[in-house]
Amino acid sequence: MNFTVAIDGPAAAGKGTISKAVAARFGMKHLDTGLLYRAVGAKTLAEGADPVEAAEALRPEDLDETRLRTSEVAQAASRVATLPEVRAALVAFQRTFAQSDGGAVLDGRDICTVICPAADVKLYVTASAEVRAERRFLELTAKGEAVTRDGVLEDVRARDERDMNRAEAPLLPAADAQIIDTSEMDIDTAVEAAAAVVQAALDAR
Ligand code: DC
Repeated sequence: MNFTVAIDGPAAAGKGTISKAVAARFGMKHLDTGLLYRAVGAKTLAEGADPVEAAEALRPEDLDETRLRTSEVAQAASRVATLPEVRAALVAFQRTFAQSDGGAVLDGRDICTVICPAADVKLYVTASAEVRAERRFLELTAKGEAVTRDGVLEDVRARDERDMNRAEAPLLPAADAQIIDTSEMDIDTAVEAAAAVVQAALDAR
């Protein structure tokens, strides 16, 4: 069975957690496409690599999650993600993944709009910048990163600004995406809301 769930949204809106939980519940594969951009960003930071060459040479072993979850790498990812050649180099991998046998959940910024416009389910998961910054602050401090609330809010806003206003594949809700605003939801409620949309689409097949 091919069945694609496409989930977009800004940083720290909860789409990663929702995507993982939905994939696990329905036995589908999951790809966090932000990791692709983070891996390219990390290479430019660590090796001064050319971002386009880094994107073209990306291997699965470059996607080691722990190393890529820092705020410095997130900003570098957001910067390399503005380059059309970097985005182009990552399209085929994502589209192939979306066709995985048994179904696939992909989350990112342009999955509904560019990568999988014909997805079976399209969701836009969002929350206010303040709520997202607070979640990210708690996540980063739990990992021992020395960050301040104000600094994290500034980072979230800078990334929103860059991700939403870039010329190539900007972050925006697809016209036919269902919007889930998690500002006032706990994570279980948000997962249930997303799972209900997926279940309805599966039932309608
Ligand atoms: O989801 P994330 O925070 O790991 O993403 C890191 C950056 O990568 C994000 O700020 C913008 C970019 N990105 C993108 O441009 N397109 C995607 N599909 C996923 C991420």
